[in-house]
Amino acid sequence: MSATAVRRIRLGAAFVLLTYLILHFTNHALGLISLDAMEAGRWWFLALWRSYLGTLALYGAITLHGVLALWLLYQRRSLRMPPWEAAQYGLGLLLPALLVIHVVGTRIAWWQAGTDDRYARVLMVFWVQAPERGAWQAIALTVAWTHACIGLHYWLRFRPWYPQAAPWLLTAALLLPASALAGFVAGGREVQALARTPGWTEALMGAVDPPDRAEAAALLRIRSGFLDAYLAALVLVIVARGGRALWQRRRSVPITYPGGRVVTVPVGFTVLEASRAAGIPHASVCGGRGRCSTCRVRVAPGLEHLPPPHESEQRVLARVGAAPDVRLACQTRPLRALGVTPLLAPSIAPDESLGADVRQGRESEIVVLFADLRGFTRMAENKLPYDVVFFLNRYFETVGTAITAAGGVVNQFTGDGVMALFGIEGGATGGARQAVVAAQSMVAAMAALSAELAGDLSTPLHIGIGLHAGPAVVGQMGWGQSFYLTAVGDTVHVAARLEQATKDYGAELVLSEDIARLAGLDLSAFPGHELAVRNRAGRVRIRVVRRVADL
Ligand code: FES
Repeated sequence: MSATAVRRIRLGAAFVLLTYLILHFTNHALGLISLDAMEAGRWWFLALWRSYLGTLALYGAITLHGVLALWLLYQRRSLRMPPWEAAQYGLGLLLPALLVIHVVGTRIAWWQAGTDDRYARVLMVFWVQAPERGAWQAIALTVAWTHACIGLHYWLRFRPWYPQAAPWLLTAALLLPASALAGFVAGGREVQALARTPGWTEALMGAVDPPDRAEAAALLRIRSGFLDAYLAALVLVIVARGGRALWQRRRSVPITYPGGRVVTVPVGFTVLEASRAAGIPHASVCGGRGRCSTCRVRVAPGLEHLPPPHESEQRVLARVGAAPDVRLACQTRPLRALGVTPLLAPSIAPDESLGADVRQGRESEIVVLFADLRGFTRMAENKLPYDVVFFLNRYFETVGTAITAAGGVVNQFTGDGVMALFGIEGGATGGARQAVVAAQSMVAAMAALSAELAGDLSTPLHIGIGLHAGPAVVGQMGWGQSFYLTAVGDTVHVAARLEQATKDYGAELVLSEDIARLAGLDLSAFPGHELAVRNRAGRVRIRVVRRVADL
């Protein structure tokens, strides 16, 4: 089973467990109303989780999530990882040991000894008979919640809507356990007060049928058995890792980094694991999950000896329009010597004008504009270098001003081409409108520039503009001093293709129908086509606007 499939199953199981936690915390929070409210909530809670389906879902999820976590721990070659990932692993590995006492004392006691584990009984134990167990349980739930929240954050942070939703989610993530804890305290206080009422404790114990001596001993054996098994599984994973490391040390591969540094790692390490093991900073926004593409490296020499990229890696590489010699470092396990050059900077330069998510990279629905000056190469052939530079700077100033005034971000000027991004902060709908306005302004401004420079030009200036909207990874990328905001992905690739299509159609603007839909434009009066794009399945529906002034 591939690591991606393992992660998907683990994620599904994690969702079941997260649902369980949320409902459990909500039930605890009812203690803020009364003990009776807690018990009433518990009835619904048990109706779900002690049904056949609920039991299967919950214990299936616990088993799958735990076993696959151990499997992934075995799978990863290097234990060096970013602090957030280490925290998530560490807390997750602690959980079984922290929770087993509670699970055996409630669910298993109910199952094996018929003990009623109603709130009154559990709170009696936690607040009257063994308060240290109450503290232990509060710690266990906090650990479980923190583990879940870290996982959720790092899973969701690529979603376009996440930056907007994050403050609300954070509020909920703090409020829910705080309310649960407050309900736990309020319920505990109520039980403490009731326990002082003569006969209440005896009546409670009579009603809940606590385990007798033999049953208690059996429950203790179950608890110790589980802890022993869990410890044994952990030791087994560690021993298996050690055995594999010894075995693989017999076969190692040298990986050469820029500057000639050579890192020798056992066969089976990914390039990203090799970087981490050697302490070489290496971008990995998604933590090595093969989703962000920021770890990508150019491979030379040794590309021919690499196993071909599997399907999910191919998909990510195609999405960013990667060259054939580019691979994802987190998915590439070299079998023979090779050289790699990381293509993105390992750390993100601070830029106060952008949100942290943009600085570190996020997946967003944006609009990408490409523009190109027609016939510039021919024009430049007859001019002095000074004139070419002067002319290009006027051109960049003209189109850059139009883009910025419309609300876009000029991403790069290459030769006589321009790439710009719209909707990075405001979303693709507003970005599409801005991009259309920018296209109109650019064409008008180029006509004005053309008139201004008429004496120096043999023909009027024309530009071709391509516009497309869709998901792209947006972030600060570059190397050394050359960091800039850019976007990568299929959307960028398509927008560039649409700009090229303006030449084929002799048009000023070619835009995808996605842009028209987002901007609320009715372009039925303009010819529509379906355009094939290299390395991309499916065609893009486009509209061809010969003269932007007709829009
Ligand atoms: S670290 Fe994200 S794709 Fe490799």
